[in-house]
Amino acid sequence: MTDKNKSALSSALNDGLNWVDARFPLTSNVKAHLTEYYAPKNFNFWYFFGSLALLVLVLQILTGIFLTMHYKPDADLAFGSVEYIMRDVPWGWLIRYMHSTGASMFFVVVYLHMFRGIIYGSYRNPRELIWLFGVAIFLVLMGEAFFGYLLPWGQMSYWGAQVIVNLFSAIPFIGPDVSEWLRGDYLVSDATLNRFFAFHVIALPFVLVGLVVAHLIALHEVGSNNPDGVEIKKLRDKKTGFPLDGIPFHPYYTVKDLVGVSMFLIVFSAIIFFAPEMGGYFLEANNFVPADPLKTPAHIAPVWYFTPYYSILRAVPPILNSQFPGVAAMGLSVVAFALLPWLDKSPVKSIRYRGTLYKQWLVAFVISFLVLGYLGTVPSNVWGQFGAWMGGADRATVVARIFTVVYFLFFALMPWYTKKDKTKPVPERVTG
Ligand code: HEM
Repeated sequence: MTDKNKSALSSALNDGLNWVDARFPLTSNVKAHLTEYYAPKNFNFWYFFGSLALLVLVLQILTGIFLTMHYKPDADLAFGSVEYIMRDVPWGWLIRYMHSTGASMFFVVVYLHMFRGIIYGSYRNPRELIWLFGVAIFLVLMGEAFFGYLLPWGQMSYWGAQVIVNLFSAIPFIGPDVSEWLRGDYLVSDATLNRFFAFHVIALPFVLVGLVVAHLIALHEVGSNNPDGVEIKKLRDKKTGFPLDGIPFHPYYTVKDLVGVSMFLIVFSAIIFFAPEMGGYFLEANNFVPADPLKTPAHIAPVWYFTPYYSILRAVPPILNSQFPGVAAMGLSVVAFALLPWLDKSPVKSIRYRGTLYKQWLVAFVISFLVLGYLGTVPSNVWGQFGAWMGGADRATVVARIFTVVYFLFFALMPWYTKKDKTKPVPERVTG
């Protein structure tokens, strides 16, 4: 292209952009949210997971659209339509495995994203709302996964939904009516499948996308935290007004995030192509058997991402024959995350400047989360029973009880141990 042609092309592009800008704030938004949005220059590995969560959200919606084209939300046809997608629809197996693997990877990414928020104190002032939107996203994501899991209408879909919906009958007085209302029938049936489909395909994705937008608006209002927990907006360049410890999001972090995306896609593809069932953790063997309301499977367990809370549910003993304490404890174990901004009384945000007391509690919490997660995948008598001296209790249940207590103590004692902890001085600038 000659120089003359080049300048004609660039002036035509400029004219086009000016035309759009006079009618829509394109350039100003690109500047405000990308090229002149200053993010801390010391982001590390842990900062990949927000953009990865966005990527998985988009993948789930796209693959979901194509699955919906062939899936039949009907108790007589659902199981067969999934088999049809797997065997007869061109590339249907790929779309389905992308969606089922995507569901598990969504939770892997979101758990790591939340863990980053915890270790760097990203939930603290002024980011409480980013965190609360995050917790709301997490709750909706759990609902989305739960509703989606019924759709293949396999044995585990059916009995999992039966168990979870039945939990609502433990609510005093109104419980049984609530669970019947949720099912739309006396047991999980075609009516249940239809409404779960409506929630999974349209209602919750809408809410999810809305909450993610709110999450990002709140993030761009206050700016990102970073591994040092230093507020970069405090020190600005005198001439430009930009934070001294910040760099423009684009191109620096768009390029960095591409590295994260590439690494993620390698792992994601490896699972899809070589181990889509992931040894039964992502897709259970029992779910390749069509739902049978007359045949309860010997061992009903939720998918791995729900198992820590399921363990807590099983660990809390019934009182006066009511399961309500377990159900309440399970609910509290998730909602407790929302309280973190007010439970943490430490003068510092990042784990880098916290003392040993906090670190010990964090390690105890992570261990209890993992142990409870494992125990939720196995039958409660997996390690046999204690002798008569312990009333013959299941060993695994006793272990789950101990770790349930540790799990809740992490939250309940936080005001105490974060105040008492010996912290280190926080530098004025980020340390890189
Ligand atoms: C669909 C799910 C989610 C998406 C798409 C999403 C997206 C993002 C993105 C793109 C960022 C900025 C990049 C980064 O800091 O990594 C971010 C930051 C953040 N997210 Fe999320 N997020 C999701 C779920 C959650 C959840 C479940 C929580 C917590 C319960 C959470 C808490 C936070 C916090 C505290 C920040 C600020 C972190 C900091 O500045 O250090 N997010 N999120």
